[in-house]
Amino acid sequence: MKIAIDGPASAGKSTISKLVAQALDFTYLDTGAMYRATTYLALQQKIALDDAPKIAQALAKATIDFQNGPENDQKVFLNGEDITEVIRSAEVTGLVSQVAALPEVRQTLVQQQRQIADRTNIVMDGRDIGTTVLPDAEVKIFMTASVLRRAQRRYKENIAKGMTTSLETIKTDIEHRDYKDSHRAVSPLRQAEDAIVVDTSDLNIEQSTAKILGIIRQKMN
Ligand code: DC
Repeated sequence: MKIAIDGPASAGKSTISKLVAQALDFTYLDTGAMYRATTYLALQQKIALDDAPKIAQALAKATIDFQNGPENDQKVFLNGEDITEVIRSAEVTGLVSQVAALPEVRQTLVQQQRQIADRTNIVMDGRDIGTTVLPDAEVKIFMTASVLRRAQRRYKENIAKGMTTSLETIKTDIEHRDYKDSHRAVSPLRQAEDAIVVDTSDLNIEQSTAKILGIIRQKMN
């Protein structure tokens, strides 16, 4: 069974998708982490971020792996190096939209994502899962939340990590990323026609997870 969860940045997709996958005993795949890993790869190898053929070439030679930890956390490895933390840095976050817009990169990663989904029951989160990667997914969720709510959540997370970016800056950053993700030429963020919208603005993590599990269980029966 394939479950696609799409939506804008900071809507809580990865946290909730992970919990949904755990409850169903399905594999969880964070496709955003693959675009982040590719961005890191290009930076590491000093490849210009608009040099699509070179990035695709490096990506073809690289391996991106995921490993589940005991606390429902997932570690990301690039060629064996643990890049879990570094791909969440401000540097990678600020540059990833640019890399995710390259058709050659998308082609390679989408192919890998489909291969993983062929092998197992999966919850996959991203921007184009229901529309492009798994158009035949049995359940498609489009998870959203207001920009302010998303900014407030990110602000709280940042404070907990000791980062002090202002709420206003985070909000502008999210708006900027939404715009770039929704307006790129290839596979923009778009709600699939058969997706069910889940607005998490007024739901906490448990409520959002329960809501999505309810939708999935209804489909399973
Ligand atoms: O979900 P995230 O913030 O980790 O995603 C990182 C970037 O990758 C973001 O700019 C959107 C892009 N992305 C994408 O284009 N397609 C996906 N399936 C997942 C993420």
